[in-house]
Amino acid sequence: MTEHFLVTGGNRLEGEVTVGGAKNSVLKLMAAALLAEGTTVVTNCPGILDVPLMAEVLRGLGCEVELEDSEVRITTPAEPKYHADFDAVKQFRASVCVLGPLVARCRRAVVALPGGDAIGSRPLDMHQSGLRLLGAHSEIEHGCVVAEAEDLHGATIRLVFPSVGATENILMAAVLARGETIIDNAAREPEIVDLCNMLNEMGAKVSGGGSSTLTIEGVRKLSPTTHRVIGDRIVAATWGVAASMTRGDVRVRGVNPKHLGLVLDKLRNAGAEVTPAADGFRVVQHDRPKAVNFATLPYPGFPTDLQPMAIGLAAVADGTSMITENVFESRFRFVEEMIRLGSDARTDGHHAVIRGVPILSSAPVWSSDIRAGAGLVLAGLVADGVTEVHDIFHIDRGYPRFVENLRGLGGVIERVSAA
Ligand code: UD1
Repeated sequence: MTEHFLVTGGNRLEGEVTVGGAKNSVLKLMAAALLAEGTTVVTNCPGILDVPLMAEVLRGLGCEVELEDSEVRITTPAEPKYHADFDAVKQFRASVCVLGPLVARCRRAVVALPGGDAIGSRPLDMHQSGLRLLGAHSEIEHGCVVAEAEDLHGATIRLVFPSVGATENILMAAVLARGETIIDNAAREPEIVDLCNMLNEMGAKVSGGGSSTLTIEGVRKLSPTTHRVIGDRIVAATWGVAASMTRGDVRVRGVNPKHLGLVLDKLRNAGAEVTPAADGFRVVQHDRPKAVNFATLPYPGFPTDLQPMAIGLAAVADGTSMITENVFESRFRFVEEMIRLGSDARTDGHHAVIRGVPILSSAPVWSSDIRAGAGLVLAGLVADGVTEVHDIFHIDRGYPRFVENLRGLGGVIERVSAA
């Protein structure tokens, strides 16, 4: 049985929506629970498929994991297992974030490689070279990344690119290493800050979170904590862009608007009235959006995860937009689906030029990843007729209660099962 969405275009989105915890934070916070014996509680977890999948990975490593509503309780044994096998990790790539905590706790880790991804190649060279500088041997063997360290010690690590995943794995290994570690050119995403905060609550000594230089003073032992996940800025911005595309009026709650500074500026450039609030923001768009250029970059730049939404906005904007993808090379596959929906778009290398049209034209389209899937639904909202969006399991991996939330704003969407 497969499922698809039927999206009927034409409605203006209006109302209020509350976002849950950030997908890109919760999975790393769950992995961080491996660093301390005892019961760690993570609250404000989003109701997405990746959370139970991560719970399975942790169970495979010897943890007891209970999931209830938006809370996950992880009880880590004195000696976790160190081998995350292929069955556990194959379904989602973020599982590689257990590598750093396992090296720190067990002094060895074997984590199966989750394989390729539709958005481009995702090597682990920076994760491995960081761990090597901390004193670990790390190789790829029989489809697994293997890391072993007799003595984990502090080091100065300069990342060639501010990789989110590499920063997290090196950070989670360094908190239990002997001496001081400096990670230079570290990723500055709010989800990294969330992880640093949780590690410090557990007794780690991490400073510089949110800047390009993280300094970690290793400690001998960490203790469990209870930590609330930050709101999902990517989901929040998806609803903000949807408001602008449909000339709507949407209040988004549950997110820190400071995490979306540049994104909200871009919506203002497109002609929206954007009002930040303590726990979110409001987007009101009266007229057709104006064309805006976007270039994806590591935080605080425009997020690559919102590139499909930017392409959707450009597709119906008044004028010509240039979108530049600087993070994942294959993310423009999404543009082929947008062309199917009548977007006047062409790509050349990592640039896309999009001439806005007043309205898109419904068609069957296929999601290639979480964000592309959401982008296609947004495009369906401004298309003439009924758009079929297939492979929606991707969307369910990143957007809790997607249909309910969209309907709550007045969008017309139906989930259909087909044999
Ligand atoms: C995380 C997010 C993802 C987001 C991305 C960039 C999670 C679960 N996923 O992915 O949603 O799109 O950040 O904001 O948090 N790279 C290497 N070698 C490495 C590591 C990365 O070459 O060792 C490259 C990647 O191929 C990519 C770029 O660096 O081109 C950025 O990747 P990275 O920041 O590591 O993304 P992820 O942590 O995988």
